[in-house]
Amino acid sequence: MIENNVEQFAQLIPQKADLRDFAFMAESFQRLMTYYRCAIMEVETKFRVLDVQLSLNSENNPIETIKTRLKRPESIAAKIQRRGLPFTLESIEQNLFDIAGVRVICSFPEDIYRLADSLLRQDDVTLIERKDYIQNPKPNGYRSLHLIIEIPIFLQNEKRMMKVEVQLRTIAMDFWASLEHKLRYKKDMRSVEHYDQISQKLKACAEMSATLDSQMEAIRNQIEGI
Ligand code: GTP
Ligand code: MG
Repeated sequence: MIENNVEQFAQLIPQKADLRDFAFMAESFQRLMTYYRCAIMEVETKFRVLDVQLSLNSENNPIETIKTRLKRPESIAAKIQRRGLPFTLESIEQNLFDIAGVRVICSFPEDIYRLADSLLRQDDVTLIERKDYIQNPKPNGYRSLHLIIEIPIFLQNEKRMMKVEVQLRTIAMDFWASLEHKLRYKKDMRSVEHYDQISQKLKACAEMSATLDSQMEAIRNQIEGI
């Protein structure tokens, strides 16, 4: 029985050449992920610089928090498979724009547009895609400004263009999105009997928090006008 298992296991071990291919692929993948990590650092620094500079003009910093994330290998693989794309590094880089993610959380909606405009005016930033879910919220109530940008990272001997997904939102939008995300994955919501009712309640909450955002902003502007 034991001998049998050993034989079966031996059959699973790839030939030497395959192992080399595998090692090469794994290393190349790691390298690509490192480039994305560098791109995240570049974009985060750009926002930190803007935050410092914009806070010189007013008393407060427009940015509350910056969160960054690198898409996990499992999620990359799942997305490639879901879209029926080839499983190569080129295909990953050309088709997935959300491997590097930077989320910028602001206090007020106006700051979101101020930051996005300043970022996009920089001459090394290219806008690939812009989705304004603040002006046009998703049917479920989701709000945020999404940008896909391309920026250069400078390596030892080369300049490499990398894509980064930037999500800008207020504290209130982030609060709503985090809770909605948690609730959505709590159970398979579609099988929950009260799905429609819960969705409606969540949407109502999104609208209340948008009202809160605009009222707080009005108060801020009133104070700054004094
Ligand atoms: P993906 O394949 O999911 O990237 O679709 P897409 O390219 O159409 O992306 P979209 O810009 O609509 O959304 C991308 C990201 O925004 C998601 O990965 C989430 O982080 C966030 N997001 C979008 N819609 C929702 C939503 O309804 N709820 C929450 N909590 N987050 C959302
Ligand atoms: Mg996306």
